[in-house]
Formats: sequence, structure tokens, C-alpha cells
Amino acid sequence: MINPHYGNIPPSYLFSEVATRVRTFQDANPDQRILRLGIGDVTRPLAPAVVEALQDAVQEQASDATFRGYGPEQGYAFLRDAIIAGEYAPIGTAITAEEVFVGDGSKTDTAGVQELFDADARVAVSDPVYPVYVDSNALAGRLGEFVGGKWSRLTYLDCIESNGYRPSLPEAPVDLVYLCSPNNPTGTSLSRSDLEQWVTWARENDAVILFDAAYRAFITDDSAPRSIYEIEGAEEVAIEFGSFSKTAGFTGLRCSWTVVPKALRREGASLHAMWSRRHATKFNGTPYIVQRAAEAIYSPEGREQVQADIDYYMRNAGLIREALNASGVAAVGGRNAPYVWFRCPGGLDSWEFFDRLLAEIQVVGTPGVGFGPAGADHFRLSAFGSHEDTLEAVARLTTLIPALGRTDSSPVLVRSES
Ligand code: MLT
Repeated sequence: MINPHYGNIPPSYLFSEVATRVRTFQDANPDQRILRLGIGDVTRPLAPAVVEALQDAVQEQASDATFRGYGPEQGYAFLRDAIIAGEYAPIGTAITAEEVFVGDGSKTDTAGVQELFDADARVAVSDPVYPVYVDSNALAGRLGEFVGGKWSRLTYLDCIESNGYRPSLPEAPVDLVYLCSPNNPTGTSLSRSDLEQWVTWARENDAVILFDAAYRAFITDDSAPRSIYEIEGAEEVAIEFGSFSKTAGFTGLRCSWTVVPKALRREGASLHAMWSRRHATKFNGTPYIVQRAAEAIYSPEGREQVQADIDYYMRNAGLIREALNASGVAAVGGRNAPYVWFRCPGGLDSWEFFDRLLAEIQVVGTPGVGFGPAGADHFRLSAFGSHEDTLEAVARLTTLIPALGRTDSSPVLVRSES
């Protein structure tokens, strides 16, 4: 009677487990100041242009003449047009507003997209990976048995030091592949030639790429595409997810978009029509006031304010990465993404390192194993804290690392964007 697949997955979602351990430590040590570089949750307040748009929209909701109830399920045209003008037209893609679906967060849509595919569809993910892609497929019963930390029917594309933390094309056939670039958790990004390879592979294998571009605004290196649709032919093989969460501080407000191109068809069916049907069934739209707030980030002031916040976080990212590298830890990420990824020093596994950081220097990060087996001895630090906290965390870390012993990895040569 109940879904048996809930019994198969690890009982707690990664970030819930992290939060529980931190809460337990804080309860036992109420005087300790914990520095949080764990979950990628923003700390800068909303941009003034966003707040003003929110306030104006609230006022509209307060009057008979301008009140709005249910909105269009796919999102208001003003926001879909702004997304095209702000995100897709400038990079020369032909994506249209009709192909954009406004949502309440990439987590929701990256978890939901698997419903478009057969229960037996073969899935590949980068390893390590944002756990939502895996868990949502596991709950749908698509991944087989969870044995020894791995799903029996899931193809893991290792992202490790020796390949510059970039996934290679699958050796066995798969129907769906989740790619995230810039990647959460490694902070590395795929280059244009990487993405060209992926699009060619998908076209040749009739596969669908689920491309999570939630961190696109953090790209500083122009050779890394901001959208998979910058690659010719991608609209026939890829669905893309974008988000305002990290870009514009919307982790609390909730707004995102998903692009399902009309050219994407499989077995005679339009995936656009299918997603539209699903969206209409399961979603009543992101609140009007939130969509107005999202629209405001594309105004000249909005763009400037939001970019200043991104620059603020990227300054933190650079600081973390450089401090780790200076301590002999070969860290990647932090150039095109607000995450820094590295092997745990002293031969510790990622939960051991997590526990020691928490107990000894009160710094919270995210254990790599929570992102997949290839992360078992790696760790992620997020750049979304305040600058002061990041400076303090880095100072504490760089005093602890020598005491743990140097990491046993030698610094790797990683492509310049990572
Ligand atoms: C993360 O820390 O990986 C993200 O903040 C989680 C999320 O976006 O759901």
C-alpha cells in the first residue's frame, strides 16, 4: 500500500543531517560561535530594487482594481519575457518565452522532471552530485537497490582529481543524464567543448540532458557557457533549470524557471506539452508578488545591485580557495561558482572531517559523501556567509589543517575555469 522505495533510501536528506548535528553541538555548547559554510544559503539581504518591487506588488494586492488571484500556471508573461531578455537573448539562443516555465525553485523542478520518463529509464549522474537528482529517482523506484553506498541501477560518472572533477561520457547506454554547471558541489564548470561533446552524445544516443544552471550567474570565465542552449542542437536534447535563489538571494522568496524547448520530442511526444500538463496539474504558480520581485532583478538598478552581491560572495569564494591552497590543500571551485571543494586533510573521511571542524573550530561545511560515493573523502565549503565570518572561518581552518597533517593528494592541474 505504501511506496516501498522510501524504505530503500538513506533515512535523512543530507542537509537535514548536517543541521541536526549542528543543532546538537550548539545545544551542548551554547557559548560557542559556529561559522556556517555548509548549506548554500545566502546571507545578503534582498536587493533594494527587489524589495521595492515586492512592496509595490503587495500594494497592488491590497486594492480591488489591481488584486490578482491565481496567475497563469506557466508564470506571468512579464517575468517570462524578462527571463528571455535577461538570460537567453544576450547569449544568442533562440529560446522563447513560451518555452519558459516559472517555478518555485530548481529543487522542486529538478526533483519533478523525472516524472516525464519511464519507470525503467536509465539514469546517469555526476558523482558527486546535488542529492535531489538521485533521491527523486530513487523514490520513483528507478534506481534499484542501495547497496554499499551505491544504487544498483544508477550510472555514476566520477568527478575526481584525475579528470579535473568533470564527468566523462557514460560507457554504458543511459536515457537521462543530469549535468550541473557550474557544478554543485565541486564548483567546477563545463567548458564549451565539454558541452558540445555532451550534446553530440545525447543526439547520437537519443538521450535527454537535464541541465541544472542554477549557478550560471557566478561564471566569471567567458569560455564556460551559461546555458546549454549556447550549443547548437541542444534544444532537441536538453531541459534547463535556472534559479533566482543564489543569484538574487531568493532562497526564502522562492522563484526559478525551467526551459523545456518545443523541439524536444521523444517517441513522438512533446516533452514541452508533457511538462505543461504536469505543471498545470501540480502547481498553481509562484506568487505574483514574488514574480514581480524576480522581474526587478533585470532592471538596470536591479542588475547592478544583484551583481554586487554575487561579487561579494565570489570574493569569499576566492578567499577560501586561496587559503586552502596556501595550506597545501588542493582546492578547486570558487572561480565560476560559490563552492570550494577539496580532499579532507589528514586522510580523514568527510564525516570525520565534518565532526572535527565542528568540535574543534566550530566551522560547518558539507561532507562530500552526502553528494555521492566519489565525495567520501572530500568536503565542500560555501561562500555564502558574511565576509567577516568567512575571514574568521578561513583563519580557524588554516590553523587546524597543519595539525591534521597535509592532505595526501598532490595539487592537481585543473582546467583554468574550475
Ligand atoms: C546546497 O547547499 O547544495 C544548496 O543550497 C541546496 C539547495 O539549493 O537546495
